[in-house]
Amino acid sequence: MNKKYRRAIIAGNWKMNMTPTEVRDYAAELKPLIPKEKLCDIVLCAPAVTIPAAVRAFRATRVAIGGQNMHYEASGAYTGEISADMLVAAGAKYTIIGHSERRAYYGETDADVNKKLHAALAAGLRPIVCVGETLDQRETGAACSLINYQLSMALYGLDATTVRRVTIAYEPIWAIGTGRAATAEDAEEVCRDIRIFLRSNFGARSARAVSILYGGSMKPANAAELLACPDIDGGLIGGASLKAGEFGQIIAAAQETARMQREEDEAE
Ligand code: 13P
Repeated sequence: MNKKYRRAIIAGNWKMNMTPTEVRDYAAELKPLIPKEKLCDIVLCAPAVTIPAAVRAFRATRVAIGGQNMHYEASGAYTGEISADMLVAAGAKYTIIGHSERRAYYGETDADVNKKLHAALAAGLRPIVCVGETLDQRETGAACSLINYQLSMALYGLDATTVRRVTIAYEPIWAIGTGRAATAEDAEEVCRDIRIFLRSNFGARSARAVSILYGGSMKPANAAELLACPDIDGGLIGGASLKAGEFGQIIAAAQETARMQREEDEAE
């Protein structure tokens, strides 16, 4: 991470887990583990019905609550869907967009991701846009070009100022929920490539300001190594975010990395 230019973010994605009742116990366990010094932002992306309870449970803490998905239209006949304004009204500050599970199971396209991104930004949400390759795509050497394509579609129509409100999450599909995280070297290679994409499309200042997260089997045991990479500014954590203790350990690893980074900056 590079705290000098961008925010470190530890974001949990609870996926289809955590009821409004369960979130109370979870919050009681996590709150004592939240460090006072704000060296990283902390986000929990909850199922829509759990958002109000999560907002209540974490009121007066520095944990922000996010959604996991949203529709790009403002309102209308879209049974089962939720708009960006509804997320905001429920108290969400962030939303995940284009998670690979939504792309794979619900046919979400790159064009949908782009429309959702514009709608999220218009509503004042902080979008976390997910990109990532399958194992086949990685093995054929296509990972970086695929991700460049996903990014060019997702970020289409944004200007150099607006893009700074976007967070990118690199989530290799083969690493999600498999216990097989990318090595720090492999994850950094893709995240660096994402930064290069941002630089050539939005300029150096914007590229420097955008936080890029890694997601895919991030755990307390591998978080420090991944977060120490210069182009990895945080994590998007599924399984390990469901256990307050584990999530707390990952937050601690991010804080420690950010502290070391700050000391290095001060020494310069
Ligand atoms: P896991 O941490 O369970 O691999 O999930 C990652 C993820 O998909 C976060 O969005």
